Amino acid sequence: MLAALAILLFLSSAIQFSAAKTDAITQLSVLVLVPYPDFNPNSGWSNGIELLPAARIAAREMNNRADILPGYNLSLVEASSDACGCITAPIGLSNFVRYAVNNKMCNQVIAVTGLVCSTVTEAVSPIAGRPEVDIIQLSLSISPLLRDTGKYRRLWHLLPSSTIFVHTTMSLIKHFSWNKITLLYSEANVLTESTTDAFIDILSNTTIQHEIIGIRSSPIFIHKALDLTEAESNRIIFASISSLDDLSHLMCEAFSRGLIWPCYAWIFQLLTYNEVLLLEQSFCTQDSLIQALNMSLILNYRLDNNKDNDVLVSGRTYGQFRKEYLDELQKIKSEDFVQDYLSGGYVINDNGNLYSNPMYDELWALGLAINSSLADMKRRGLSLNEYSYNNTPITNLIQEHLNDVKFN
Ligand SMILES: *[C@@H]1O[C@H](CO)[C@@H](O)[C@H](O)[C@H]1NC(C)=O
Ligand SMILES: *[C@@H]1O[C@H](CO)[C@@H](O)[C@H](O)[C@H]1NC(C)=O
Ligand SMILES: *[C@@H]1O[C@H](CO)[C@@H](O)[C@H](O)[C@H]1NC(C)=O
Ligand SMILES: *[C@@H]1O[C@H](CO)[C@@H](O)[C@H](O)[C@H]1NC(C)=O
Repeated sequence: MLAALAILLFLSSAIQFSAAKTDAITQLSVLVLVPYPDFNPNSGWSNGIELLPAARIAAREMNNRADILPGYNLSLVEASSDACGCITAPIGLSNFVRYAVNNKMCNQVIAVTGLVCSTVTEAVSPIAGRPEVDIIQLSLSISPLLRDTGKYRRLWHLLPSSTIFVHTTMSLIKHFSWNKITLLYSEANVLTESTTDAFIDILSNTTIQHEIIGIRSSPIFIHKALDLTEAESNRIIFASISSLDDLSHLMCEAFSRGLIWPCYAWIFQLLTYNEVLLLEQSFCTQDSLIQALNMSLILNYRLDNNKDNDVLVSGRTYGQFRKEYLDELQKIKSEDFVQDYLSGGYVINDNGNLYSNPMYDELWALGLAINSSLADMKRRGLSLNEYSYNNTPITNLIQEHLNDVKFN
């Protein structure tokens, strides 16, 4: 009896001790909005679950360090947004409202991160940044439209805009003195449409002939696009297609018509090269698809890092981070919400996804900016403990400091 009482006393004092300890720590909620698997054939990229481990590692690293955000703990609120390329973003919007705007469960979130898709960013961003919902957002979107700092006041980007692909293609056009080009793009998609608009803007100041063809997810559009290309004998084709299914369909058809290298030169703007190789071959054999894509130029961002010894912003090496990331990726498979997707046919790639790298950077950029703004806040009599969506001076300060965050 005495022993039991002693244990009880011990337990209760242990609980009190840990409660007292956490009391001193202010939780800073950060919303991580990434697309969870979407099995709709017309949907684009939806591998956001593979980015979550990177966000968790970054938050944990900062939480475990005494020299960054002392007294604060970054606490991630993870939620799904829509697959990239969808015309509307109902899931992203409702989760943004549920976990950020109307969040009754914890503190108001200090930032929205993730935002991998331009389509989702475009839907969510105009809401945040209003006086009553004044939240910083960090996005991996690349649509040129979203660079309008007047319209998207709180939106920060970790990747350059897709106009970089337009400039690359323009350099090729000039170098080889091409005088005719076809622009093929997915209609009603903010990313491909705005890249095409940027391209047209630049081309309209030149004498280069350009055919502009918008396509939709339907065999009719794909056939029509190729009919036109053939009729105009435009041999240089810049294709900005958001759905992998459409891309596979288009290139299988181009293969069967012989509209491929060396008679035709295809230039693609794609999210990642791997996705082309992983395309489903529902429209032709994989062999045909490989031949259709052979010698084409694929423009995308280099997100990997082959140098394991590179030191990251955290002070650890890329190799160390990468190992931990792959371990966490295996662990996340056992979580209930992931199990649901896995049993529905979703496959987590053992190598994860390279967008995990800029995802990790998003969290670190945010953490460093908040950390270095603390001194300024103190000087101005502000405190993060009073953070709310209508405390614009705090958001302004974090934003000012984000401007100064630089790391490799
Ligand atoms: C966090 O901010 C403090 C105070 O400005 C600074 O001394 C410290 O170096 C910062 N931490 C990091 C990791 O930059
Ligand atoms: C900090 O947040 C994480 C969630 O991101 C949580 O697991 C952890 O218990 C928190 N730590 C403290 C000291 O509040
Ligand atoms: C095209 O030329 C016009 C007039 O010279 C100029 O205002 C515009 O900025 C140019 N556009 C591009 C994309 O270079
Ligand atoms: C790709 O094209 C090149 C050049 O025409 C050729 O040498 C090579 O064999 C082709 N590869 C495939 C897989 O078709």
